[in-house]
Amino acid sequence: MPRPKVYCTHPLFEEARKILSANCDVQYWCEAERPPRDELINRVRDREALVCLLTEKINDELLRTAPKLRIVANVAVGFDNIDIDACTKRGIVATNTPGVLDETTADFAWTLLLAVSRRLGEGEALARSGNWKGWNLDQLCGADVWGKTLGIVGFGRIGRAVARRASGFQMKVIYTDAARAPEDVEKSLHAEFRDMNSLLADSDFISLHVPLLPDTRDLFDAPKFFRMKPTAFLINTSRGPVVDEAALVAALENKKIAGAALDVYENEPFIHPGLKRSNVVLAPHLASASFETRSRMATMAANNVVALFAGQRPAHMLNPDIFKKR
Ligand code: DGY
Repeated sequence: MPRPKVYCTHPLFEEARKILSANCDVQYWCEAERPPRDELINRVRDREALVCLLTEKINDELLRTAPKLRIVANVAVGFDNIDIDACTKRGIVATNTPGVLDETTADFAWTLLLAVSRRLGEGEALARSGNWKGWNLDQLCGADVWGKTLGIVGFGRIGRAVARRASGFQMKVIYTDAARAPEDVEKSLHAEFRDMNSLLADSDFISLHVPLLPDTRDLFDAPKFFRMKPTAFLINTSRGPVVDEAALVAALENKKIAGAALDVYENEPFIHPGLKRSNVVLAPHLASASFETRSRMATMAANNVVALFAGQRPAHMLNPDIFKKR
């Protein structure tokens, strides 16, 4: 039996490589930079499977040049880089990596929340600068976290994992989402459902956990910032375009909010110069970046590919309708 030809846009981690090499004929992109578009299109041309990262745009332009392609396995839970309809029309399975990064991402949302409220970025810069003149009573005073109100926008797996961590800080947790969570979930997380406006008005910290969809693009815009407390902080570990960056910069400049901590940006890797301020903590899209989690994500993507060629349904399909049609 010929082994399925797979192209991976990253060398992945050892476990994922083992799974792929035991079952497939695999080529890897091994450069430090992401593959240029032309290179990607060329490499995928004769492949039956593509394992890609969120940095690769998988659209019809690419798919039509790869007539043998049967699966696109994204090594990410977010899949706004993939045109799912285009995949479905061509009978190509698309998969993602849900679940395995929830806790790690929630940890990082908290890392950002604590860093921005307690001015860790400024403190770290001062400690390294050689200009620290010693302790002082009013030096780099931030805002307390404990006992405050945490507003969670998007109460899926990651939003709930963020909520779970709040009890140690004796915080009040409020959330909003298109659908209310089941009562037992609300009870166990001590979380109260609110509409968006009420959440904006009452939260000291707002953490975003929605996927990027047409409905959530620019979800946080000027009117939302206007409704937030001037002492409140915005945390974003979801997707950059969920926030209107120009509106966020204006809100920060006009002191409509106290600060922001961001892991994601509208046009990565570009970071709006107006965000490079002392009351903004900036991270380069790191929320799931622990060895354990990134390795689990890669393994999941590899297993999705192998499953398809073994005649099974990949566990994490984004377009399951493909199988209904057959
Ligand atoms: C994802 O998986 O969507 C993250 O943004 C990267 O882990």
